[in-house]
Formats: sequence, structure tokens, C-alpha cells
Amino acid sequence: LEQAARVRADADAFVVIGIGGSNQASRAAVKALRPEGGPAILWAGNTISACEMARTLRELDGYQSIYIDCIAKNFETLEPGIAFRVLRQYLERRYGAEGAAKRIFATGTPGSTLHQLCLDQGYTFLTFPETIGGRYSVGSDVGLFPMAVAGVDIRALVQGMRDMRDTLLAAPAEENPALRYACLRRLLLEHGYRLEMLSFFEPRLDYFAKWWIQLFAESEGKEGKGLFPASVEFTADLHSMGQYIQEGKRLMFETVVRLGPSDRQLTVPADEADGDGLNFLAGKSLDFIRDRAMEGTLLAHTEGGVPNLIVETSGRTPADLGQLIYFFEYACGLSGYLLDVNPFDQPGVEAYKKNMFALLGKPGYEDRR
Ligand code: PA5
Repeated sequence: LEQAARVRADADAFVVIGIGGSNQASRAAVKALRPEGGPAILWAGNTISACEMARTLRELDGYQSIYIDCIAKNFETLEPGIAFRVLRQYLERRYGAEGAAKRIFATGTPGSTLHQLCLDQGYTFLTFPETIGGRYSVGSDVGLFPMAVAGVDIRALVQGMRDMRDTLLAAPAEENPALRYACLRRLLLEHGYRLEMLSFFEPRLDYFAKWWIQLFAESEGKEGKGLFPASVEFTADLHSMGQYIQEGKRLMFETVVRLGPSDRQLTVPADEADGDGLNFLAGKSLDFIRDRAMEGTLLAHTEGGVPNLIVETSGRTPADLGQLIYFFEYACGLSGYLLDVNPFDQPGVEAYKKNMFALLGKPGYEDRR
């Protein structure tokens, strides 16, 4: 919180460098909860696209005061590694080596190369807990520091996570929502369903859905097992994927994330002429109309042979998001164990890295060439 306040007070732009689980949760929370004001938040290190890097550098040229945070567990992943090198040098060109060092943060495992780099160069080092994989790291410096810089109330978010943890640890099995969700996923898999579609009716949850996909794909997709996690944003995707969900191959069930009431209310205005024939909606709030869309969709999809599960929050505050995050993390752990896989490793991710290292001539990978 102290470091984030320092950055927030001085920065015009803050670049979060990281890939996969290591940046997905903070991106999800910032997108869903970010209050107005504060520095622009940019995301880098999650691609090897020259266009993207050039675009980021161009955008940064327009800001006076820039800070960066490189998140990398063991600092062996190329995407954040390359972005960090490019952005470090960019900051050095703009602020000099000493000035840049004050603006550079890194979040890594103590004892890693990244840690050593911070010690050598005087960068601020934050801790990536050694025993936690990126996708479960939301409640550590990994997720919380970028959120705090963006102005998200991380105390409330962590409290939400704690509350959900207490609830899940205390609830008897039959009433335990995470265990029920994990068991339903397992039962549906046994009944031939192969894909779980997370749907949501609030566009700002798009990165939350990406984080959810990250969580379940990397935790369960191993040993030839696991549901294929995908997501859709409704109502927009009802006009594309909605067709497939309703009438395509029967292989999926749907998990709907429902948030509590919007913080802003808007009603459809009356129009005396009613030329568009919409007066039947006059005076009704968009939340009300959206809820009817939700019910109509649920009914149609269930009738079309797509079972629906609903995960609902009472509100849409940082605490609510914290609860939702902890709920899915906990359920994912349980669900992985029900599948008899280790939900906390990701051996499959290493395969592409090793081939790429060999193809790029990284020392130590000669035997794979
Ligand atoms: O959940 C995970 O552990 C992964 O998604 C990692 O976060 C991702 O592969 C990036 O790893 P690293 O932080 O080591 O670059």
C-alpha cells in the first residue's frame, strides 16, 4: 500500500509487465473495479508482438512520469523478460539510470535472477510467494500491487477473499457452494459434457473471464482430462455464439456470473410519438431489462440442452470481487483433486518454452535442436 501510494501520487502511467496467471488477476480487477483518476495503466509482456511493443512505447512518449512493474515468478519466461529489458532501457533513456531505478519495480521469487537484478540495479523488489503459481497469486504482491496503484481498494478485496475463505472452510459439505460447484462440474463431465462456458452480462468482466479461463485451463487441463473452459459476453455474444449454444453440437454447460445491481441506474425514456415502438420499456431500468434478458437466455439454453449453473454476488464492490475470486480458486483446487490431477502445477506450459529456447539457441537447450 505504501509503495502503491508513492507511485499513484507521482505517476502518469504505470506499466504492468507479466503474462498468464502472473498478470491476469490484477488486469481483471483493474478492469472491473478501477475508480476514476490516477495513472493510466498499461499492460505489456504478454505477447511477442512488435506492433504491440511499438504501440506501448509510442503511448508512453505522451506521458511525463512513468513507472513499471515486472511480474515474473522465476524470470525464465521470454515475453515479460523481453518487455522488461525494452522498458527498462526506455526509462533509462528518459530519466537516466538513477532516476529510472526509482521508477522500476519487480515482483519475483526471492533468490531468482530477477531478485539479483533488483539488488544490482537498485530497483524495488516485491515478493512473488514461492509456493503459489501465478493464477493463485491474486492476494499477494503479484495481484495487489498493480490493483492498488490503479486505485482499487485492496483491503476490501482481501477482506472479501478472507470472508469467502471462512465461509467455505466452515460450511458443511452439502451446503458448501465451492464443493457443490466442483461436484456439479465433475458430474456434468461424467454425463458427457466437455465444455464449460462462463457467461456474464457486464462487459467490464471480460478480463475476469480471461482469468477464470486461465485458472481452470492451467489447473485441470492435463493427463487427457478436464473440461474445456471458454467464455462469452452477453448480450453481445448472444448474436454470435448464442446460435451455437442454442442449437450447435451438444457438448457444453454454462456457468453464469451474475453481479448485484449496477452502481449507475439508467431508465429508458418515454417518447410521445413512439415511432420505434419501444414505449413498452419506458420507465424501466436497464438493469431490469438485462435481468429479463438473463432469464430469457437461461430458459432458452436450458430448453436447448445446455444446463445452467448460476454464481451470484450480492453487489459489485471490491469485496464482492474478492469473494468471487476466492470462490473460484478454492473450487478449482477441489475440482482438480476430484479429477485426480494436481491443480497447482502446469507442466504442459513448459513444452513450448523448451522448444522455443532450443530454436532460439538458448544455452543449455542444444540437445533439443
Ligand atoms: O499460473 C501460472 O503459474 C502461470 O500462468 C504463470 O503465471 C505464467 O506462466 C507466467 O509465469 P512467470 O511468472 O514465471 O513468467
